[in-house]
Formats: sequence, C-alpha cells, structure tokens
Amino acid sequence: MFTEEEHRKVQEIRSHYPTAQAAVMSVLHLYQDKYGYISFEGMQYVAELLEIPVEHVLGVVTFYEMYHDHPIGKFHLQVCTNVSCLLRDSDTVLETISKRLGIAPGETTDDGTFTVTEVECLGSCGTAPMMSVNKEYKENLTPEKINEIIDALLAS
Ligand code: FES
Repeated sequence: MFTEEEHRKVQEIRSHYPTAQAAVMSVLHLYQDKYGYISFEGMQYVAELLEIPVEHVLGVVTFYEMYHDHPIGKFHLQVCTNVSCLLRDSDTVLETISKRLGIAPGETTDDGTFTVTEVECLGSCGTAPMMSVNKEYKENLTPEKINEIIDALLAS
C-alpha cells in the first residue's frame, strides 16, 4: 500500500518517537493523505507496519475527528459549532451550506464533491464563526462569504 519512499518516511517518523504507538498518528496522516480515508484494511496495514495491535489504531482513528474511516467528499467542510462559533451564529453557517449543497451535516453530495460535518472547537475562536475546508481555515463567515467560497471550490 505504501511505496518504498513512503516506507522510508514511516521509518523516519518512527525514529522521532520513543515507541511505535506514539508514532501512529503521524503514520495515519500519511496514509489518509494518500487514500483520503482510513479503511479497516488500512488500519490493519498501519498496525502491521508499526507492529502494534490493530485495536490501538482503531481506537485512534475513531477517537479523533481528523481521521475518516469512510470515504468523504473532495472538499470536506468542517463547521465548528462550539461555544464561540455558536454565539457568533454557526447555525446560519450550517444552514447556508446545507441549503446551497442540499445536504445535512454528516452527508456527502451525490457527486462526491462536498462533505459537511459539524466539529468541536478548531482553535480559531477569535475569528468565529469559522470552518475548515480540507486543511484551510475559512473565518469570520457570513452567508455571502460562504457562497463565494463554494463558488471558488466549484470553479477549481
Ligand atoms: S469555538 Fe469555533 S473555533 Fe473555537
């Protein structure tokens, strides 16, 4: 599943940590960046690579929201609905996105372009309401700004 170069990267990652278990998150990022999500087969692969129990890998993947155990859209819109964003109207953010794309939180558009999820604080409370699109933060959102972001993604 990994190329020789990726195997070397895994070894390099592993060398930065005192135990194999401690390296699992970085290796999972490597896997998810390549495949888009981490299937159970992928978890088994990472477990074998690091020689750790698959239950440990499964626990990490299912605990952290940044890992996906099923396919998601090309653009993953993660809308923060924690306190600061909620007070700054994250409900309108979700409503605008859902109305525009025709999907509810947790769903993916039929063409596989967009997935929308509700997430806990992304650490950008000062620019609430906000969301991330893949790894990029979009902040101080308004309905107009959201539609512009979606237009730009569709045109990309
Ligand atoms: S509450 Fe939304 S980024 Fe912190």
